[in-house]
Amino acid sequence: MALGRLAVTVDVSARVGPLELQTPLVAASGTVGSVWEFARVADLAAYGAVTIKSVSAEPWEGRPVPRLAPTGVGMLNGVGIQNPGIEAWVTDIVPRLRNLTTPVWGSAVGNSPDEFARVSKGLESAGLSTVEINLSCPNLEDGRMFALDPVSSGAVVAAVTASVDVPVGAKLSPNAEDIVAVASACAEAGAAWVTLTNTVWGAGVDIETRRPLLSGEVGGYSGEPLKPIALRCVREVAQALPDLPIVGCGGVMHGKDVIEYLMAGASAVGLGTIHFAEPRAGRRVLEEVERWCSQNGCDRLDELVGSVVPW
Ligand SMILES: Cc1cc2nc3c(=O)[nH]c(=O)nc-3n(C[C@H](O)[C@H](O)[C@H](O)COP(=O)(O)O)c2cc1C
Repeated sequence: MALGRLAVTVDVSARVGPLELQTPLVAASGTVGSVWEFARVADLAAYGAVTIKSVSAEPWEGRPVPRLAPTGVGMLNGVGIQNPGIEAWVTDIVPRLRNLTTPVWGSAVGNSPDEFARVSKGLESAGLSTVEINLSCPNLEDGRMFALDPVSSGAVVAAVTASVDVPVGAKLSPNAEDIVAVASACAEAGAAWVTLTNTVWGAGVDIETRRPLLSGEVGGYSGEPLKPIALRCVREVAQALPDLPIVGCGGVMHGKDVIEYLMAGASAVGLGTIHFAEPRAGRRVLEEVERWCSQNGCDRLDELVGSVVPW
């Protein structure tokens, strides 16, 4: 009798604070359109959750083109969070999300705590069961990104958690000088998890035209080179705040990147820029995660969370 290697059935479910996810993969905001179009090309069952593009209280026009620029490795974007505003979003988009079986996470953005709260309330009233708040956005009061400052980040989270009942996650920026202080302020204000991270600031020049690659000059740099930066944030927060759930995000291309984020302390992992080159990446990445687990005798993904061994 030939004794082959026994296939291990892997439990790929994940838990992010109060949220139970079927898989650890989360489609990152702004990289899967309004979700319903993405659902026509990708297998949403590969994801534990998919996140909408951030929505603001009023319509935002976004920046002029060019606002996306591949840079060889990674990608620059300066879209300026173009969106139709919460009222139009609820009217036009919500009916198209009704038949989806994968949980859809809301994403709120604003220029003041009140605006964040208004949008989050609108997302909750529209039936979304979770809201992620995108703190990489300028505060009208001082023009600085909320995510750079623990006090203003905490004020946004407090305003949102006071106005909705659904779990609220805070999406932070790798540009913050002290990511632990910002994460800690968000947790104290009631965030159920933090997403680490949004894009890092970057810029580029087209040497033929001598113009900046983006109309806004500086934009968000994402993709493969972001991974070590986001992982550094995950490690710092996981060590300082071990009870705060983390969604790791930045530069995931393969299943092994997901394993790395889980070991570093994330409970779930976002996929963003990969979707522009490979819209069906979620299914492939999930299969790679399952294969790695089978080959390494891991039958439950949550065993891996924070399993990094210190030197
Ligand atoms: C074109 C583009 C648009 C994005 N728009 C948003 C957004 O509206 N809200 C948000 O929270 N993050 C937004 N992001 C950030 C991503 O959700 C993600 O955090 C970031 O790109 C890092 O992950 P990645 O390296 O896998 O892309 C955007 C990213 C890209 C590339």
